[in-house]
Amino acid sequence: MSVLKILTDPDPRLRKAAAPVTTFDEKLKSIISDMADTMYLAPGVGLAATQAGIDMQLLIYDPEPDPKVKNFKVLVNPEIISSNGEVLSENEGCLSVPDFRADVKRADTISVKGMDENGKSLEFEADDFVSVILQHEIDHLNGILFIDHISALKRHIYRRKLKKELKHK
Ligand code: NI
Repeated sequence: MSVLKILTDPDPRLRKAAAPVTTFDEKLKSIISDMADTMYLAPGVGLAATQAGIDMQLLIYDPEPDPKVKNFKVLVNPEIISSNGEVLSENEGCLSVPDFRADVKRADTISVKGMDENGKSLEFEADDFVSVILQHEIDHLNGILFIDHISALKRHIYRRKLKKELKHK
């Protein structure tokens, strides 16, 4: 078991678009296993490699996280190819934005394509909670945080809180 350090805002590495994965080897599997240990311990429902300072288009997710089962899914080089409808993701949070939650407008249904951990192509539709998780994690791989989607007022409140916290570190 190996737990990775999760970067938090305003770490500039969270703002970089991740590089595509081109090699599907044991090293990739070991990174995925470390990411899973990290996500279940946190605990969270998704984790993007970017959040662990790993420059790879790689994410894992599990809408019903049970650390004993670890039934997570892997998505490599993901891309949202279409999105439909709108939902309010209530009280969304992020392991890289500790102690702050906000409502975020998200697409209701998305079509995603990418690959699994062996480089096999995948294409599927996601809705409800899984759709929201995937939009959030794919954003991470593009250097976007959920706070980028909230109202200016909410963001102002967040920035002020962050500034105070950084001052006391
Ligand atoms: Ni996040």
